[in-house]
Amino acid sequence: MNISHIHRQWPVHILLMFLIICLIDDTKSDSFPTLESTIISHGGQVLRVTDSQYKNAATLWNPAIQVWPSLILQPAIYDDVSLALSTLYSAKVSIRIMGGRHSYGGYCSHRGVVLDSSRLKNITINWEDETITMQSGVVWSEVYDVLKESEYIIIGGLCPSVGVVGFTLGGGYNSMYTRSYGLALDNVLKFTVALYNGTIVTASSQMNPDLYWALRGGGGGNFGYVLEMTQKIHRITDTKLPSGQISFFNITWENQDLKEALLNWLIFLNDVADMDTRISFDVIVYVSSERRFIMMWGTFNGPQVELQPLFNSWLTKNPKPDTFSIFNYTQMDIARKIGILINPFPVRERQHIVSAMAINITSTMLDVILESQPNSTVPIAQFMDIIYLNNANKDKNTAWPFPDISFDIAPGFVWTTLDGDYAAINAAESWWQRLLNAAAPTQSIVGAYLNYIDPYMPNWQSMYYRNNWNRLREIKTIWDPTWYFRFPQGIPPITQQSLATKFTSKWSILAITFTITVFSKFSYL
Ligand SMILES: Cc1cc2nc3c(=O)[nH]c(=O)nc-3n(C[C@H](O)[C@H](O)[C@H](O)COP(=O)(O)OP(=O)(O)OC[C@H]3O[C@@H](n4cnc5c(N)ncnc54)[C@H](O)[C@@H]3O)c2cc1C
Ligand SMILES: *[C@@H]1O[C@H](CO)[C@@H](O)[C@H](O)[C@H]1NC(C)=O
Ligand SMILES: *[C@@H]1O[C@H](CO)[C@@H](O)[C@H](O)[C@H]1NC(C)=O
Ligand SMILES: *[C@@H]1O[C@H](CO)[C@@H](O)[C@H](O)[C@H]1NC(C)=O
Ligand SMILES: *[C@@H]1O[C@H](CO)[C@@H](O)[C@H](O)[C@H]1NC(C)=O
Ligand SMILES: *[C@@H]1O[C@H](CO)[C@@H](O)[C@H](O)[C@H]1NC(C)=O
Ligand SMILES: *[C@@H]1O[C@H](CO)[C@@H](O)[C@H](O)[C@H]1NC(C)=O
Repeated sequence: MNISHIHRQWPVHILLMFLIICLIDDTKSDSFPTLESTIISHGGQVLRVTDSQYKNAATLWNPAIQVWPSLILQPAIYDDVSLALSTLYSAKVSIRIMGGRHSYGGYCSHRGVVLDSSRLKNITINWEDETITMQSGVVWSEVYDVLKESEYIIIGGLCPSVGVVGFTLGGGYNSMYTRSYGLALDNVLKFTVALYNGTIVTASSQMNPDLYWALRGGGGGNFGYVLEMTQKIHRITDTKLPSGQISFFNITWENQDLKEALLNWLIFLNDVADMDTRISFDVIVYVSSERRFIMMWGTFNGPQVELQPLFNSWLTKNPKPDTFSIFNYTQMDIARKIGILINPFPVRERQHIVSAMAINITSTMLDVILESQPNSTVPIAQFMDIIYLNNANKDKNTAWPFPDISFDIAPGFVWTTLDGDYAAINAAESWWQRLLNAAAPTQSIVGAYLNYIDPYMPNWQSMYYRNNWNRLREIKTIWDPTWYFRFPQGIPPITQQSLATKFTSKWSILAITFTITVFSKFSYL
């Protein structure tokens, strides 16, 4: 997709944006003294731009999409989330729900009122049932921390600062454990949800099963405010290693025939790994004129003595890897070694990611995957990430639309300056289009990952949701009939019709572009 036409239209749209922002900014945020004092009296917090804690609370993980809310409400108890929702809904004040702040589209925030989960941090483990209940303000590092003395793992983010709810509602894969134990959404037993009017309901296979189905794959910010959820945890015993360790391996090829190396890998998947879900891979590819390498991280969830014999026929083929190392790692070790431990926010780099859910990878797709680093006057680094997800989805009765895929091909694009935004986003979107074109003859790409939400994606409805779109809209109509939980790439109720969808998707692009170009220049915060 070429985004240049948007830029040509800026003057008029910026004017309109200002108008709209002025309207949004005129929230009645000062006319809720009871709501605010109630939240504070129960240990919560209310933050405005002038408060010292505001900046840290409002900062998003990715600086390229930073937007500053007018008011942040941080309730500490569920009743105050309810009160906030019923009060704001009645007053027609629009909100966004904020969790771990990793949304690539910045959809957890906006220029208005934000309902932030950061004071809902309780974690309760039931060892007998092998379940864990997490409140919505919990992030994955906190869960790994409470599990670290045990032999248990959970399907959580490799990036430990990701929020548990946002991750799970969009699918949630852990490239090291998901082939063994499923996606995060496969592991949820129960949600507790506050609806737009403040009513709190339970969603499980027994209670409100339509909502339970829709929450698992429908994505964050759509059906209600998830207060807490209960997930299965898994004891690692098949590896016969102590402390819940798993065999973690790292295989690299450098300055060799990388295409041949990847073709050999695909044959190994087809012949061995597809049938053996103990094997996981997360593959990084980097190609520039100076350096070309493949780095394959993976795990084997079985006795280590079986690993070498399984891999032998593959790794003895040419080109042979330069390095092949095996370690004994716990989930916490893996998060430390290959996760992105960045604290506090924000990271210095500006980022954009695109995703392609693929059934298979063909030779022509490999040519696009192995393209050299993007050409641009500003430096842009492209980190190709191929996540192997064959047979990852274990529960087919969810809104996860990709039970048939084997890969998420998801390169991240990284740059550092505001004036690189246009070139970087264009490089990312045009790369994505080239991959789609290469995959078209074999129909290898069937969608895109909702958790790598991309404000520039055309046809996002069918790319994220595939055949589930209509059913999700029907369920939305029941649980949020007036479309209170709303954001540019959100699911509309049936009654709102497609007009509204067109309107918001157009504005979403403008809003993001506008945010990137204008707000990032304000350094007063
Ligand atoms: C560095 C990095 C690494 C990542 N790695 C992985 C990975 O390994 N695997 C993977 O599957 N994904 C990964 N992701 C994607 C990640 O899962 C999504 O970005 C996810 O949506 C982030 O959730 P959050 O709570 O941190 O973000 P937020 O931006 O706070 O929330 C994301 C969305 O969910 C909504 N939301 C948040 N809390 C609630 C709630 N309580 N109730 C209802 N809606 C809510 C928000 O409104 C927003 O629309 C990664 C992202 C980043 C930036
Ligand atoms: C966390 O939850 C447990 C059990 O539900 C409860 O006993 C405990 O008081 C809670 N802790 C906090 C800090 O809310
Ligand atoms: C994997 O191996 C490469 C090359 O030896 C090394 O640079 C990298 O740090 C290793 N990564 C991990 C997580 O072990
Ligand atoms: C991992 O554990 C196995 C079994 O205890 C042991 O043989 C092996 O040496 C360990 N590997 C490393 C890298 O420590
Ligand atoms: C980058 O530029 C080089 C040299 O001009 C060219 O050969 C190459 O095809 C370009 N790559 C892309 C991805 O456009
Ligand atoms: C890839 O998958 C598509 C869709 O299932 C299928 O039609 C095609 O034959 C497959 N191609 C290869 C090369 O496996
Ligand atoms: C809140 O909304 C739900 C779903 O529309 C509805 O079932 C419920 O009765 C409403 N609660 C109140 C108190 O109006």
